[in-house]
Formats: sequence, C-alpha cells, structure tokens
Amino acid sequence: MEIHVTDQAGETHTLEGLEGWRVMEVIRDWGLNIKAECGGALSCATCHVYVGAEWFDVVGAPSAEEEDMLDSVGDVRPNSRLSCQILMSDALDGLQLTLAASAAKD
Ligand code: FES
Repeated sequence: MEIHVTDQAGETHTLEGLEGWRVMEVIRDWGLNIKAECGGALSCATCHVYVGAEWFDVVGAPSAEEEDMLDSVGDVRPNSRLSCQILMSDALDGLQLTLAASAAKD
C-alpha cells in the first residue's frame, strides 16, 4: 500500500508501507525530513503531519493524549496528527500527508 507525502520543501513522494507499520516509520525509513525523536512513544510531537482534507475522516481524530502533545507545537492545525499514532492499513492506501515544519530534523 502507498502513501503520498509532501515534504517541507513542497516535493511529493510516494512511499510504500506495510500493514501495521506506523506511518512515521514509513516516512522515516524512506529518508524524509522527520525527526520522530521519541521513536513513536507519543512523547515528542516531532512526527507531526497534516492529513489531506479528503482523508481526515478516514484517519480519524487524535486521542486526548495525542491532542495534548500536539498543543505543544506552534504550527498545529485542525488536520494535524502525529504520524506515529497512525497505523498503515488497506483503508489508508493512497493516504495524502504533508510534513509539518515542526517535524523537521533541524
Ligand atoms: S515520534 Fe514522538 S510522538 Fe510520534
């Protein structure tokens, strides 16, 4: 299954991921500019992405814990999610995401 990720420079990449993988891991393993400092433990917010408008309902809203973490970044938007909290599945094949500035490595 594939996801389409637009990086901070505005370039869109099509990435292949496997069922059950964290979307953050797919983005990181493809070498895009994502810090993902805590490795998926929901304690950093440096895996911040914006979910494409037509995908937000499919992906779903963040948990209260994730929302608290998102509140710590300056560039949060209504379609913000932490990509380590989204698992790859058939339903998300074709998912469109944009990397937030706050997810960049430096
Ligand atoms: S990698 Fe730290 S919250 Fe997602």
